[in-house]
Amino acid sequence: MPSMDGLYTTSLISIALFLLLFSPSVAVDTIPANQVIKDGETIVSAGELYELGFFSPANSNNRYLGIWFKKISTGKVVWVANRELPLSNTSGILKVTRDGFLQLSCCGDTVIWSSNSSAFVRYINPVAQLLDTGNFVVKDGNSTDETDLIWQSFDYPSDTLLPGMKLGKDFVTGTNRNLTSWKSPNDPSVGHYVDYIDTNGYPQAFLRQGSVMQIRFGPWNGNRFSGEPNEKSNPIYSIEFVFNQKEVYYKFELKSSVVQIICLKWDGIIEMLHWNNRSQDWFVYSTGLIDICNRYGICGPNGICDINKNPPCNCMDGFEPKHEDEWNMADWSSGCQLKIPLDCQAAEVFWKMRGMKFPDTRKSWYNQSMTLGECEIACKKNCSCTAYANLDIKRGGSGCLLWFGELMDLKACEDSQDLYIRMPASLLKGLTGVSEPGFNKMIRVLASVFSILLTLLGLSLAVYASNMKKKRSSMKGRGRRVPSIDRHYSDVEKEDLQLNFFSLSQIAKATNNFSINNKLGEGGFGPVYKGVLENGQEIAVKQLSETSEQGYDEFYNEVICVGRLQHRNLVKILGYCMDGDERILIYEYMSNKSLDLFLFDENRSSMLEWPQRFDIIHGIARGILYLHHDSRLRIIHRDLKASNILLDHNMTPKISDFGIAREFGGDETTSKTKKVVGTYGYISPEYAVHGRFSIKSDVFSFGVLVLEIVSGKKNRDFSCEDINDNLLGHGA
Ligand SMILES: *[C@@H]1O[C@H](CO)[C@@H](O)[C@H](O)[C@H]1NC(C)=O
Ligand SMILES: *[C@@H]1O[C@H](CO)[C@@H](O)[C@H](O)[C@H]1NC(C)=O
Ligand SMILES: *[C@@H]1O[C@H](CO)[C@@H](O)[C@H](O)[C@H]1NC(C)=O
Ligand SMILES: *[C@@H]1O[C@H](CO)[C@@H](O)[C@H](O)[C@H]1NC(C)=O
Ligand SMILES: *[C@@H]1O[C@H](CO)[C@@H](O)[C@H](O)[C@H]1NC(C)=O
Ligand SMILES: *[C@@H]1O[C@H](CO)[C@@H](O)[C@H](O)[C@H]1NC(C)=O
Ligand SMILES: *[C@@H]1O[C@H](CO)[C@@H](O)[C@H](O)[C@H]1NC(C)=O
Repeated sequence: MPSMDGLYTTSLISIALFLLLFSPSVAVDTIPANQVIKDGETIVSAGELYELGFFSPANSNNRYLGIWFKKISTGKVVWVANRELPLSNTSGILKVTRDGFLQLSCCGDTVIWSSNSSAFVRYINPVAQLLDTGNFVVKDGNSTDETDLIWQSFDYPSDTLLPGMKLGKDFVTGTNRNLTSWKSPNDPSVGHYVDYIDTNGYPQAFLRQGSVMQIRFGPWNGNRFSGEPNEKSNPIYSIEFVFNQKEVYYKFELKSSVVQIICLKWDGIIEMLHWNNRSQDWFVYSTGLIDICNRYGICGPNGICDINKNPPCNCMDGFEPKHEDEWNMADWSSGCQLKIPLDCQAAEVFWKMRGMKFPDTRKSWYNQSMTLGECEIACKKNCSCTAYANLDIKRGGSGCLLWFGELMDLKACEDSQDLYIRMPASLLKGLTGVSEPGFNKMIRVLASVFSILLTLLGLSLAVYASNMKKKRSSMKGRGRRVPSIDRHYSDVEKEDLQLNFFSLSQIAKATNNFSINNKLGEGGFGPVYKGVLENGQEIAVKQLSETSEQGYDEFYNEVICVGRLQHRNLVKILGYCMDGDERILIYEYMSNKSLDLFLFDENRSSMLEWPQRFDIIHGIARGILYLHHDSRLRIIHRDLKASNILLDHNMTPKISDFGIAREFGGDETTSKTKKVVGTYGYISPEYAVHGRFSIKSDVFSFGVLVLEIVSGKKNRDFSCEDINDNLLGHGA
């Protein structure tokens, strides 16, 4: 193929000619040892993207050594060597010494600035080279190892993060790479703002102005900084965050041949800039401060910022403003506190918060190999632990992150990990929304164990429903929330109930003025006192603490509702008392108190013989059967647990605490509620997760109760040496 050969030779010649003719102006990218670059001379990276030389900022005569974009942009400077030590005239020179130092000097031998490489080694052939990445490196010219660098400008960033450049720390060499803003648009000296990776606790990135935190990025959750949008699918760049024993860093790499940089501007604004070839200008691709909620800690400790709300600051569930008046005047800085403080004694639970940017991790502890279950246990063990979460969201979540003390800088956002907040169990019933114990695993195990039970129940329900159909006509017109205010009971009905009205003074007298010595315990809805009436009858007095918003009629109707339930295995209500905001229920006194005192007390549990335990289970079952099927109403208890089973002097079990019980029309078997009430360890998964409750929810709680009665172990507190699970999980 001569013609092709000819073409080839011709082009070779023309290339050679081109090189010959233009070689003086072909820029070099390398400075050999002991050769100098004078002001006015530059070196250019091989791909002609970057250029290094001396420059003056606008409106300034100071000379700086720097790197800027060569072909594009109007000389955007991305790195400055002598930021703090400008030259006043154009007599500066740059050279590479035999020791591998870069030296910027002026007027003879006055060294203005020098790169300080740690080793005092004489290199055979040190050279400085400007790479196409924008990295200015000093290396041994005879070394073939490209990564064997004596010095690199990427270790000393200015205000610009180029693709491939690391922001973070090298724990081995001690190098700390951070972005620092210029002092002003025309002054490259170090300004007020710094963007860096903080390694107190679990690493996260910060933008700081002086000593004031401005913005927090992170912590890294395996995919992205917590609270940031998922950038996995971004076609332009990808983000990498590495954290190991050797180093921690953040960097971004471009996926296509665009030009994009991150710049910390002199005024503290972090911008990702994109070069638009068509308009020949930079445009802001994204900026660090998207909304007010990105301001660090704007809502104070334990406050959540939600940009979709007005005002944006709110307390977390179960928390209230520390200073109500300040809070209401939009001064959120003092933040929120738990409505009931943690004291590490009372029962505590973890409230699951979804869609939350993780709080500041500077006071945190982490372990990359722990599971969520182990994490909960670890948090429970330490009284100052206030929250926990998975460290990494990849592969269904792994690792453990614990927070200590107040939780700072929470932000509501879509698509984030779950955060588990510690709080007293007594706070839980006031919370709306969906709550769930930390053990996801438990939920799954429970679901499988009880699916069998539920199937059986479903069958019996079907039979029951067909029976109900016949009776339905008589039930028609019955409201959903029965009894309602406008439902009237005939006087006959009232008398039927044999309910007594007690005056407050009568109750006060009976209970020794609600003396602490008479207090039997704290029910779900308030304290319970023992009292003795004038006729010598012993009573239990239940003060309803949180029902004060309830009207007279509603309370009265509720009393009647409960009063109409009469069964051997239900606690009998004797009367009620209403005075101002006081709402009091009077029950018969149970001399053996509640079942949990027997079950979970080592000394007393031996008093319970097997036949007795069986009788108790039997009794509870009969009580539930009555509530669900046999009573004139149809009641779902919703809070069956050992402490709500009272024992009389014969050890007959009696179900108590109908405070949150809910009545159903005969044809209703499930309902949905936004407010999940009940007790952890006893509430069924579908109720905990979806708020759906039905008589099945009670059956679930009953199942837990049976397990506890048989084993004498608390479901929630159960632990086995090698299996970190609860009683239910263990049984499975
Ligand atoms: C440049 O400035 C230095 C002091 O910064 C001075 O010593 C030197 O003489 C100046 N050179 C010229 C050519 O003006
Ligand atoms: C390099 O730094 C060390 C201390 O870190 C210092 O002793 C030495 O003088 C520095 N060298 C140069 C050339 O600045
Ligand atoms: C290093 O490289 C230079 C030229 O690149 C060469 O002259 C010199 O002999 C080399 N030295 C060694 C020790 O390889
Ligand atoms: C930023 O880096 C410099 C140089 O390594 C270091 O001295 C300084 O402490 C760093 N600042 C922060 C906030 O990490
Ligand atoms: C930028 O635009 C110029 C023409 O304005 C074109 O020649 C050049 O190839 C473009 N560069 C890129 C990277 O698209
Ligand atoms: C992290 O957790 C794993 C598994 O529980 C344990 O083996 C390891 O010792 C823990 N590491 C630290 C530093 O606590
Ligand atoms: C709880 O954690 C904090 C912070 O890590 C630690 O200082 C404290 O010693 C821990 N307390 C206990 C009892 O482990």
